[in-house]
Amino acid sequence: MIKLIKSTFYKEAEIKQKLCKFILNSSKLSIGEECKKFEKKFGKYQQRKHCVMVNSGSSANLAIIQALLNLGKIKIGDKVGFSAITWSTNVMPLMQLGLIPIPIDIELSTLNVSSKKFLESLKNHNVKMLFLTNLLGFCDDIDNIKEICDKEKIILIEDNCESLGTIYKEKKLGNYGLASTFSFYVGHHLSTIEGGAVTTDSHSLDTMLQMVRAHGWDRNLTERKQLKIRLRHNVNSTFYSRYTFYDLGYNLRTTEINGFIGNLQLKYVDEVTSKRRNNFLRMAPPIYGKTDRYIPIKYNHIDFLSNFAVPVICRSKEIRDQLVEKCKNKLEIRPIVGGDMVMQPFFKKHMPHTIDAFQNSNAKFVHEQGLYFGNNPELTKKEMKQIVDIFTR
Ligand SMILES: Cc1ncc(COP(=O)(O)O)c(C=O)c1O
Repeated sequence: MIKLIKSTFYKEAEIKQKLCKFILNSSKLSIGEECKKFEKKFGKYQQRKHCVMVNSGSSANLAIIQALLNLGKIKIGDKVGFSAITWSTNVMPLMQLGLIPIPIDIELSTLNVSSKKFLESLKNHNVKMLFLTNLLGFCDDIDNIKEICDKEKIILIEDNCESLGTIYKEKKLGNYGLASTFSFYVGHHLSTIEGGAVTTDSHSLDTMLQMVRAHGWDRNLTERKQLKIRLRHNVNSTFYSRYTFYDLGYNLRTTEINGFIGNLQLKYVDEVTSKRRNNFLRMAPPIYGKTDRYIPIKYNHIDFLSNFAVPVICRSKEIRDQLVEKCKNKLEIRPIVGGDMVMQPFFKKHMPHTIDAFQNSNAKFVHEQGLYFGNNPELTKKEMKQIVDIFTR
């Protein structure tokens, strides 16, 4: 059986050994220097001024939305567009925090929202923010989407949990919007076991994210920023300042263990993304070449494709069902990400009215006729041949 995920992190044996030593020699394992180091390095890797590390990609999504609400950049009751094919915890925080999620359909050719689909949605909905998912390392014309957002004063945030490392038009995905979120869960491009981050160039967003991450207090801010906020709120005694809560927050902190792993994994990030890209280029063309069976995904507009799974969209439900049978005990497969969010029970329960207006979508098609298998850096040539054979013979 070729598993979806082959290891907890890249170079697992080496990392585990180093981790044991690190834990034995550390006097502090709660958030500290290793996490700070990771934030600095990851920010540099992503070419962003700020990076705030949290305990998951889901927490990163929750944090950015809460931060935007705290700053008044969006308000309760505002409509927020999101990619109809995404992960549950991309949409759930929108609902939990009192925003109205508007599903936007994706293109079958790229699995992502295009400017065309976005414009179609804008005809019916006055959205204040677009929470765009860059699905499985791919994108559509995100540059045009950004242009529309700029023109219409719509805040663009990218959920880049699945596309770390992809470069489109010489820019890394995750750098098109005001901020972007990342997941470092096992199986993603870079694993810290559990983990996530928000990156941005905005100083005010960075400050707010630091407070949202930890209880709404100011302890993780620089001294200058602490002074400023304390002055504004008339907090002039150290006795109280450490226990003053300035705005709505959570505890989304990560630990030094995750920070330490992240720092080690970052050294290999280019190696991992290159291996995965090469794997993709070995497996996808012969599979997508079977155009009578599959709808090929377009990727030649992307400068560097970085993904952790290979999606296959079947021309019929029968073909998909046959494949599910064929893969049993041979290749671990699963639906495309979280599928069409509109078809999920939580969405039907809380957003029943949206569903009527979102029928016959490409997202539904992908939900019902798509699947993916893992694209691990540890895949062998023999395994890749076996995979291609399953889909092409
Ligand atoms: C698009 C997307 N957003 C958010 C998440 C959540 O990340 P995490 O599992 O780290 O909470 C995922 C998870 O895979 C995802 O695919």
